[in-house]
Amino acid sequence: MLAQLDQLYADALAQLDQATNTADLDNWYKATLGRKGAVYLLTRQVGQLTAEERPLFGQRLNQIKNDLEARYQQRLDNLKTAELEAQIAASALDVTLPGRRPVRGGLHIITQTLREIYRIFGDMGFQVYRSPDVETDAYNFEMLNFPPHHPAREMQDSFYTTRPDVILRTHTSAGQIRAMRDYYPEPVRVILPGMCYRNEQITTRSSIQFTQVEGLAVGKAISFADLKGTLTEFACRLFGAERQTRFRASYFPFTEPSAEMDVTCFLCSGKGCQVCKYTGWLEILGSGMVHPVVLRNGGYDPEKYTGFAFGMGPERIAMLKYGIDDIRLFWGNDLRFLQQF
Ligand code: DAH
Repeated sequence: MLAQLDQLYADALAQLDQATNTADLDNWYKATLGRKGAVYLLTRQVGQLTAEERPLFGQRLNQIKNDLEARYQQRLDNLKTAELEAQIAASALDVTLPGRRPVRGGLHIITQTLREIYRIFGDMGFQVYRSPDVETDAYNFEMLNFPPHHPAREMQDSFYTTRPDVILRTHTSAGQIRAMRDYYPEPVRVILPGMCYRNEQITTRSSIQFTQVEGLAVGKAISFADLKGTLTEFACRLFGAERQTRFRASYFPFTEPSAEMDVTCFLCSGKGCQVCKYTGWLEILGSGMVHPVVLRNGGYDPEKYTGFAFGMGPERIAMLKYGIDDIRLFWGNDLRFLQQF
């Protein structure tokens, strides 16, 4: 019996060592010192002992019970403290840790280019005027003096909607009529920025969507000299004070006369390089005096009012300025490209 008792003690100690959490410990207690535990079961056999053996057994049993109780208590305290500490560590709010840095966005290269353009024209008294991306055929073409079936429409193949008269604007010129009707009879001095859409083959040089900045000035006694002065000033502010400009005759249905403006190449200063194709000049925008038909459609009497207009492509400007060789990069959402600016 005494040997059995010692065996029980040894087993209980070994099992106690294996308890790694309070739940283990709880089970150990029930199995060892609990109401139907090993110790209790052994005491029930005390009747088998002789009268001499009993006190010795009782004494030893009590020693073991007390010892196990004490060890259990000790172990329980330790485990509880450890569990509490682990819990505190896991849910700790360490106010001394540095905060997580939010990912910083940046302005799109075209947004930056647009803002530069706004700033320059803003200094010259032009306001930004917004007009819709979804337009009617009337504003986009007809009132700009493109009759139906006019061949000039062919350069601006459109995206149509389910309504035959509603399209995505192919150029910002559509906003000219809206601005004039809004401002009449006051003079107009606006720039109209925005996305334009054309049903084109997508290549490195043409895309189905791109931005434009349109300009429009209408008033009394506005002349071609005002057009040249304003746009040359703009070119010098954007590309450098030493730039020269030249105007080449061109054709647009909504202007007469019409002209394309070139600036001296800012990469080779006019000496000739790959970008300007060894001409020394870069084509920057289209322009002209507002056609009398367009003035009338805007509400202005062409006998009393004149005006000039221009249109440019910020993507083209950015491509020239930064040596970007593929227009698809602008709206391709590739961060490796966008983050360079
Ligand atoms: N709307 C023309 C285009 O998309 C650009 C343009 C040329 C606008 C001459 C103008 C202008 O206002 O006067 O090709």
